[in-house]
Amino acid sequence: MAIRTILHYPDPRLRVQARAVECVDDRIRKLVDDMAETMYAAPGVGLAATQIGEDVRLFIVDLADEDEPSALRAFINPEIVARDGEQTFREGCLSFPGVTEDVRRAAEVTVRALDRDGEPFELRADGLLAVAIQHELDHLDGKLMIDHLGVIKRRIVHRKMMKRDDGPRPPAG
Ligand code: NI
Repeated sequence: MAIRTILHYPDPRLRVQARAVECVDDRIRKLVDDMAETMYAAPGVGLAATQIGEDVRLFIVDLADEDEPSALRAFINPEIVARDGEQTFREGCLSFPGVTEDVRRAAEVTVRALDRDGEPFELRADGLLAVAIQHELDHLDGKLMIDHLGVIKRRIVHRKMMKRDDGPRPPAG
């Protein structure tokens, strides 16, 4: 496994529309494992392949608390087939370090996807899991949390991210 670099806004690769996974093979399983290691190291509760510059429809989520066993789920070629209600949650994103903003999304979603073994599953989620699924699925369509904000908040977050010193770092070691 390997920890990968997480892209930060406004990296243009975060705007790429990811392509469907044609075959859940060892390459995809290795990508899931790398993404899990990267997410846990961050630490974060969700990560989309787009965020590490991989152009495939795949994201992972693990909402378990630190003292609980891992609840890692991989969603490959995910599709939301039903949405219901509304909720507002203060979201963060590993591509927007230090930023949290209220985002309004569906309260419940039903998602269909393939798991790490390529097996299809359907999941009905509410609460934080529903938020995470919608947030990560957005990434695969090149959509970011900033796109859900009003024009003024969007400008504030944009400026904050532009001020970060995110330039290339010298190679270590
Ligand atoms: Ni995110």
